[in-house]
Amino acid sequence: MSEPRKIIIDTDPGQDDAAAIMLALGSPELDILGITTVAGNVPLSRTSTNARIILEFCARTDVKVFAGADKPIARPLITAEHVHGKTGLDGPELHEPQMPLQTQHAVDFIIETLRSEPEGTVTLCTLGPLTNIATALEKAPDIAGRVRELVMMGGGFFEGGNITPAAEFNIYVDPEAASIVFQSGIPIVMMPLDVTHKVLTLKSRVAELRAIGNRPATALVEMLEFFERFDVEKYGSDGGPLHDPTVIAYLLKPDLFAGRDCNVEIETASPLTVGMTVVDWWQVTGRKHNARVMKDVDADGFFALLTERVGRL
Ligand code: BDR
Ligand code: CA
Repeated sequence: MSEPRKIIIDTDPGQDDAAAIMLALGSPELDILGITTVAGNVPLSRTSTNARIILEFCARTDVKVFAGADKPIARPLITAEHVHGKTGLDGPELHEPQMPLQTQHAVDFIIETLRSEPEGTVTLCTLGPLTNIATALEKAPDIAGRVRELVMMGGGFFEGGNITPAAEFNIYVDPEAASIVFQSGIPIVMMPLDVTHKVLTLKSRVAELRAIGNRPATALVEMLEFFERFDVEKYGSDGGPLHDPTVIAYLLKPDLFAGRDCNVEIETASPLTVGMTVVDWWQVTGRKHNARVMKDVDADGFFALLTERVGRL
């Protein structure tokens, strides 16, 4: 096997963030340099606690967790307890984590890591609002050219938004940060709602995860059973969309996904559409491509991968 791919996971756990972290932990192709937390689904203190709980469920306390931004760059924080529950990780019984939080700020960890690792070797995986990454880019513009790729869960186009008719949650919470990231020149792969609304936690898929029977799988199933109730009511579907693990699945099996290179701009002004990802899918503007936007996914292949890897934990 070739050298594992070095990644930093920037996250606001979140049950679907937990699934993404577990998928990464179960995959020897990936070397997790650190997990950085951001305020999003729930406030920062809780996302930082949740990241450590997930690592302890997986007995992987060797992975370091760094706390980052506690609010968006230019706006008050909006959270999503209505989706994820009071803790952000509702479902299983949650304990107080024993492993420490690192003292270094997440933004400084991101900058230091990108400067110390060889250029073009570190991939950023973002599962929440882009505040930490944008702050790092503002503080240290030299790092943009050192990132191998940034793979994000965020945005939506044909599918519209989930927090407003126009905006997806991660972009909506910090649109100024998203705009900085999309203008940074970093090679971006975007997993929008157009993809994630196709990977539904159908009962048969959750049953396969449950059958694994290890501690992480059992905790994950309990999380998903809580998480999906909101989306099942909202969309009337048999299962909720499992957004964030699509980012990790892309690193492992890019062929599960199909999309195209586009220009993407972020709306930051209009009260009606703030946080919208304006994707030039039909290439009508002549604006420069700045992201590979995914639209389709092999959902069965995705769940087979997730199940196999969680089974290795
Ligand atoms: C995104 O928002 C959060 O609620 C989820 O964790 C995911 O990252 C989906 O819009
Ligand atoms: Ca998330």
